[in-house]
Amino acid sequence: MKIAVIADIHANLEALHAVLGHARAQGITKYVCLGDIVGYNANPHECLEEVRNLDLLGVVMGNHDAVACGRQSLVGFNPYAARAAEWTRSQLSDAEQTWLASLSFKQDIFIDSPITRFTIVHASLNRPEAWEYVFDTHEADVSMQFQWMPLCFIGHTHSPLAFERSLLETVGGVFNTVRFNPDHKYLVNCGSVGQPRDRDPRAAYVTYDLDHATIQLHRVVYDISTAQKKVIAAGLPEYCAIRLGTGR
Ligand SMILES: [Fe+2]
Repeated sequence: MKIAVIADIHANLEALHAVLGHARAQGITKYVCLGDIVGYNANPHECLEEVRNLDLLGVVMGNHDAVACGRQSLVGFNPYAARAAEWTRSQLSDAEQTWLASLSFKQDIFIDSPITRFTIVHASLNRPEAWEYVFDTHEADVSMQFQWMPLCFIGHTHSPLAFERSLLETVGGVFNTVRFNPDHKYLVNCGSVGQPRDRDPRAAYVTYDLDHATIQLHRVVYDISTAQKKVIAAGLPEYCAIRLGTGR
């Protein structure tokens, strides 16, 4: 069994369609979503509808989702992110906001074919609601002190990174494939579908092969130009469009 883990879609429908098509072509039918479904780009309704129609094993709230449904304030948002967040909130129906507000900050997932368990959280496990960033082994170590499962998937930084913790140390960095050592713990950031920031503008997501205990990072080409035009046409900040082209 293989599942797809998607994060930080950020209302980018072109990127989401490309990723879902790529996953379906591999026979994937089950998904996990790490939050920030909305914010920054121009298709919040459509992305919410696509995600809600997936066969989801789990989904958690991101900081942009929390603001879009009124569960948290704009504290910590830079001016253009705040403008995009306010636009997003104005676009969402009460039902959409209620659904976003119902999401939890973290979720433990158990799959029994074979027995597999992992945790999902948008930002970090030490304080999920504080939206802390995990960019290095020290920050990974802090989060993994609160990780009871052998594996945890995170998003939020929009940069794919994998960390491995043994009894002696935590190591990690950029990755293509992660193969599990059953005695170690893993913290995997699956990158961003809709707004990559690792200088690669292609959409990012991972697949998790439960039978072979491996995680694979995928980068998917999508129609960036259409997504950019929609951002401008919606009156969203121009920087939201520009950064899609540079992957930053
Ligand atoms: Fe995000």
